[in-house]
Amino acid sequence: MPADSDMVNQIVEAVQKGERYRHVHSDLVHRLAAAELAHGRNAKEAVKAVRSKLHQVGGAYLELFFPVGRWFAELPDLPAGLDDPKLQAFCLTAMQHHASTRERLKDLPSFFETILRPLAPIHSVLDLACGLNPLAQPWMPLAPDAVYHACDIYADMLELVRAFQSHIQRAGQVFSCDLTAETPACPAQLAFLLKTIPCLEQLDKEIAAHLLNEIPADHLLVSFPVRSLGGRSKGMLQNYEAHFHDLVAGKNWRIQRFIFSNELAFLISR
Ligand SMILES: C[S@@+](CC[C@H](N)C(=O)[O-])C[C@H]1O[C@@H](n2cnc3c(N)ncnc32)[C@H](O)[C@@H]1O
Repeated sequence: MPADSDMVNQIVEAVQKGERYRHVHSDLVHRLAAAELAHGRNAKEAVKAVRSKLHQVGGAYLELFFPVGRWFAELPDLPAGLDDPKLQAFCLTAMQHHASTRERLKDLPSFFETILRPLAPIHSVLDLACGLNPLAQPWMPLAPDAVYHACDIYADMLELVRAFQSHIQRAGQVFSCDLTAETPACPAQLAFLLKTIPCLEQLDKEIAAHLLNEIPADHLLVSFPVRSLGGRSKGMLQNYEAHFHDLVAGKNWRIQRFIFSNELAFLISR
């Protein structure tokens, strides 16, 4: 039975009273609330279940309070050149505040360079479920006039990404989006789906195959974590590698594999 819309709205409102849930893409919160009610949960249980799901897919990676005010104050005084050490230092500090980019920092000097150099200079990027990864642009082999689109479910985090894009005068859209409900239609030479498939599969088990088929890009860089947020590996490399091969079985795509200290990556070209 479809959930009562007033009840759904009440659950959404209650979920979004929490500081870390306030900025999450509303359509996603609505959908999760309706699904919990449809499963027969009462309002209190539904609020708890929705928050728990949002924590698993995104909140666990973010620090509760990132110093957005300080970043907005610092950014205008920084040079705009991506090769400038002061701008790079700002990016490195900011990326520490999202677990996913923090884990990549050690490999950052080689990660994009190793994988993407044969495609360079890259003219357009679609960074899906981006987190703070757009701040890694100084380490990507992009054309100076490249277009960079980025999306995620956190509006407040995207504000910083948008301010950064504007500061470095990078063209492209930065937008809030639930990838389990829509595939962004911005065509690009290269799309990133970095360490995100396991999060999305907690919302929709079938989503990965669908996205791999639908993302409008010639090349797709997909990656998986090889350690949990707590630092344990628990066979993750083998499991995600097997899962990826299941997802691309039967596709006539060229696939290259890369392994870094915290991340298993595949470049799909089609
Ligand atoms: C493990 S992090 C990866 C972040 C970034 N791609 C990286 O590798 O640094 C997963 C990201 O997926 C985002 N996310 C979770 N569910 C999403 C959804 N339904 N649609 C879009 N983004 C989502 C989270 O907010 C989080 O930033």
